[in-house]
Parts: sequence; C-alpha cells; structure tokens
Amino acid sequence: MGNKYSGLQIGIHWLVFLLVIGAYCAMELRGFAPRSYRPWFNMVHVSCGISILVLMVTRLLVRLKYPAPPIVPKPKPMMTGFAHLGHLVIYLLFIVLPVIGLLMIYNRGNPWMAFGIVMPHAAEANFDLADALKSWHVTLANLGYFVIALHAAAALMHHYFWKDNTLLRMMPRKRS
Ligand code: HEM
Ligand code: HEM
Repeated sequence: MGNKYSGLQIGIHWLVFLLVIGAYCAMELRGFAPRSYRPWFNMVHVSCGISILVLMVTRLLVRLKYPAPPIVPKPKPMMTGFAHLGHLVIYLLFIVLPVIGLLMIYNRGNPWMAFGIVMPHAAEANFDLADALKSWHVTLANLGYFVIALHAAAALMHHYFWKDNTLLRMMPRKRS
C-alpha cells in the first residue's frame, strides 16, 4: 500500500465533491431562473443525486477492501476515532439522502426524468408518504451542509495546523 489513496478512490472522492456542488446548486439556484427552466434544474438535481448514490456505494465497497493509507505523523488514537466516525456519517448520509429522494419522487406518482430518460413512478400517488420523505430529505440535506463544512475544515486543519499528509493523500498525483 502506498502513502496515498488509490487513483480510483481519489477520482471518485473529487467527482462526488463536484456532483454534491451540482445537486445543491440546482436546488438553491432554481428559484432565480424563470419557471420554465424548473424541469431542467430538477433533472440536474436528481441526476447528480443518483450519481452520488452509485459512487458512494462503490467507494464504500472499495474502502472496505482497501484500508486508508497511513497518516504521517500519526494522529492521536482519539483523533483517528473521530475521523472514522465522521467518515461513517458522511457515507451513511450521502447514501440515505439520495435513497430518500428516490422514494419521495417515486411516491409522488408523477413522471420525472433523470439523465434525459423518463423514470418509473408509482401508479398511484401516496402524498402523505411523499411529504414525510420530503421533510426527511430537506432535514438531511441541511445537515449535509454542516457535515461537509466540518469535513473540509478538518482536512484543512490537518494540512495547515497539524501539518500532516492527510490532505495530500487525497490529492491527484502529479504527472512525472
Ligand atoms: C446527495 C444527494 C442529494 C442532495 C445533497 C440533495 C439535496 C436537496 C436539497 C438541498 C433540496 C432542497 C430542499 C429545500 O427545499 O430546502 C432537495 C430537494 C429535492 N430533492 Fe434532493 N438531494 C439529493 C438527492 C436527490 C435524489 C437522488 C432525488 C430523486 C431522485 C432527489 C429529489 C429531490 C426533489 C424532488 C426535491 C424537491 C422537493 C420539493 O421542493 O418539492 N434528491 N434536495
Ligand atoms: C472541500 C471539500 C473537501 C475536502 C478538502 C476533502 C478532503 C478529504 C480528505 C483529506 C480526506 C482523507 C481523510 C482521511 O483519510 O482521514 C477525505 C476523505 C473522505 N471524504 Fe472528503 N473532502 C471534501 C469534500 C468531500 C465531500 C463533498 C464528500 C462526500 C459527500 C467527501 C467524502 C469523504 C469520505 C467519505 C472520506 C473518507 C474516505 C475513506 O473512506 O477513508 N469529502 N476527504
């Protein structure tokens, strides 16, 4: 094992980072555009969301097979414990959140599109369930902002304050 995450893990990490920006921006900015653009914003949102789901499950499976490369200098065991807990929360959150999104949109019983393709929906709408799922989706999405902000702040603290190789392990390799 090298001193960095594998190219696949680094690639997925930063691709998910971009898709998370896409999913949040599509929802936060849709109100500024004319109403006729709403389906486009919704499609961008759900397409980014579904891609995040697939990539998070993939990277979790990859991570279970390949351990994280060591941090140098080695942090205190308590810090490592917090980091593992934090990563577990990120994995769970960004898997559960899109699954809830899918269940919500399915149970609305209306046609919807992802990646330019018409997706399946329930034959009969269940608005009570869809509304309950929506409130979970919104709450978890808001929690996501804090979790990611904390995660990015921790990565920067490692780099600039504790001066270890945590962040460099997740950076793309330089061409030699
Ligand atoms: C990690 C991925 C995702 C994130 C971060 C995310 C985040 C968000 C956010 C911030 C909102 C706006 C909430 C508000 O109104 O304040 C939202 C709404 C919504 N999301 Fe997601 N979402 C994700 C995945 C998905 C997926 C996979 C679907 C469905 C396939 C989906 C369907 C929706 C729908 C339909 C709404 C609009 C609800 C409404 O206004 O009626 N989301 N999402
Ligand atoms: C500015 C934004 C970000 C920065 C600077 C950053 C940086 C890092 C760094 C340095 C690591 C390695 C930490 C370690 O091994 O202890 C890491 C791991 C991780 N990041 Fe990020 N990240 C960012 C955004 C995100 C986003 C948006 C997600 C997903 C929604 C994410 C999910 C993860 C996960 C799940 C791990 C754990 C990897 C493992 O299984 O070992 N990160 N990140």
